[in-house]
Amino acid sequence: MQRRLGNAPAPETLDPAERMGVDELRALQLERLQWTLRHAYENVPFYRKSFDAAGVHPDDCRDLADLAKFPTTTKADLRDNYPFGMFAVPQDRVRRIHASSGTTGRPTVVGYTARDIDTWATVMARSIRAAGGRPGHRVHNAYGYGLFTGGLGAHYGVEKLGATVIPVSGGMTPRQVQLIQDFRPEIIMLTPSYMLTIIDEFERQGIDPRSSSLQVGIFGAEPWTEQMRTEIEDRMDIHAVDVYGLSEVMGPGVSQECVETKDGLHVWEDHFFPEVIDPLDGHVLADGEEGELLFTSLTKEALPIIRYRTRDLTALRPGTARPAMRRMDKITGRSDDMIILRGVNLFPTQIEEIVLRTPGLAPHFQLVLTTQGRMDALGVRVEARHDTPAGRRPDAAREVVQAVKDMIGVTVTCEVVDPDTLERSVGKLQRLVDRRDR
Ligand code: DLL
Repeated sequence: MQRRLGNAPAPETLDPAERMGVDELRALQLERLQWTLRHAYENVPFYRKSFDAAGVHPDDCRDLADLAKFPTTTKADLRDNYPFGMFAVPQDRVRRIHASSGTTGRPTVVGYTARDIDTWATVMARSIRAAGGRPGHRVHNAYGYGLFTGGLGAHYGVEKLGATVIPVSGGMTPRQVQLIQDFRPEIIMLTPSYMLTIIDEFERQGIDPRSSSLQVGIFGAEPWTEQMRTEIEDRMDIHAVDVYGLSEVMGPGVSQECVETKDGLHVWEDHFFPEVIDPLDGHVLADGEEGELLFTSLTKEALPIIRYRTRDLTALRPGTARPAMRRMDKITGRSDDMIILRGVNLFPTQIEEIVLRTPGLAPHFQLVLTTQGRMDALGVRVEARHDTPAGRRPDAAREVVQAVKDMIGVTVTCEVVDPDTLERSVGKLQRLVDRRDR
């Protein structure tokens, strides 16, 4: 079978912003940026304080380059204002809440007005169309539904496009295969690592994955490589394209790779303004230079976000398939220690919190990432205290596994080892050991 759906959408089906020239786009961005800065300053005490402390006022933004004068925002700022302190509208205008992992047990909470949900659906529909989706297609959505933005974000985008969403969510892999076989979707949306698991399941059931109805996969929520793209495209005979986003900025659909070029992800710049900075000293880098990606929302009502430090490392490039919208390179890594395990974000500090409050365990632990089948697996190795009775260890390990499942939502393994046995180099424990195949 030949891969289809690899063509660019007809120009008349694009959103007006996708067809703008650079000057028109920049003017729109400036107008929206000035509104956003004022909206944040007037309605969110956190922004008022941080702008005042930096000696800047929304009126100081006369040019897009002036944005660099404004302070950045971090995940810790959202955590400090947990749960709703960053919201810029009264509760009765908030239609939806999502959340993602914070650096500690507290999640990062985000909110949306009705208009925000519509904006999000619009950019997500745009993403699916750029990937090859068209009205009338069936879309198998295996991103997780719930507080995670993946499931519902993709879901509303499919509906907005005028396609049919099949809201499968994650898990129950044999059933995923059955639904693909029975419902014959053209498009699938899920994390790339889970796609590989589903491909394996096709083969386990003796079905050639290349014979399925699927033609395009839209993959994101975790880093993936060109090698993974080649493997998925060859084994499944589909186009594999990249979708990026983060809950603090909106969710999936902040940027998207176009199927006809597969040359990086076009940032939907009419809604999200990107900058790349040097993660060490914070100065803004020129397009083409690699650094940490920042986003400022341009239209968000419930949670305007100013210069959010994503911690994702990339570079901005000139637009191609959408000439005015800059592209970002595939994410090469992060400037912090966040682990993305099967699409779920997790910080070592969250594990630390759990270890610290589990009786019998010392605060010395190590996280070991391995590959099991096609998926990443995480093992927690933690030292017992000197006075911990041997009989307590299995229970302590079970409690850690359960707490990680309850608090973070992923399954890990836990091994309690003898005191002082985890290897230390220059007295320091290596927190994360990466033994994954790729
Ligand atoms: O992962 C939103 C999303 C859902 C994107 C579905 C794409 C598809 P968070 O849970 O807030 O939101 O995690 C955001 O995930 O800062 C990146 O580190 C990582 N990430 C997301 N997409 C990609 C991607 C969603 N395409 C964090 N490539 C981000 C690499 C990605 N990393």
